[in-house]
Amino acid sequence: MFSLQKKEFMDLNINGEKKSVVIRSADTLLDVLRNQLGLTGAKPSCKNGDCGACTVLIDGWPVKSCLMLAVEAVGHEITSIEGLKETAMQKTFIDCFAFQCGYCTSGFIMNCHGLSRIHPGADYGIIREWLQSNLCRCTGYEEITDAIKSVLDQNAALEQ
Ligand code: FES
Ligand code: FES
Repeated sequence: MFSLQKKEFMDLNINGEKKSVVIRSADTLLDVLRNQLGLTGAKPSCKNGDCGACTVLIDGWPVKSCLMLAVEAVGHEITSIEGLKETAMQKTFIDCFAFQCGYCTSGFIMNCHGLSRIHPGADYGIIREWLQSNLCRCTGYEEITDAIKSVLDQNAALEQ
């Protein structure tokens, strides 16, 4: 009989590596990343999809890991902030002072990195719409918007 409490072995593809985990069917991807794999960059906050602090990429698309069951991630490429290595978005967040306490920052960077790949020509309207999925309580959204636009402009210049 199907049980949400039953534990099973599963393989997850995380940051380019296959990781075996023993999880319950009811475990969220956020909890498995943090508690089983020690990947604490995705942050728990609202845990109901409002804040975006837990954002990771699934096959390149930003997803709130508090809303996804770990079993749903089997067979997909999961990227957490630990899997980004000195990307332009990380560097530009620093250059643009796009964070203060930093609690929301990994979620913002994952979302913005996803945007830069999915909408390389995004204008301010698309950027503002995209940012609606993440909340920051202590820095200004202008700096975050500037960081994204800067990365998009850098990428466009590199392609010319
Ligand atoms: S903790 Fe996942 S959206 Fe807030
Ligand atoms: S930098 Fe503090 S919540 Fe966003």
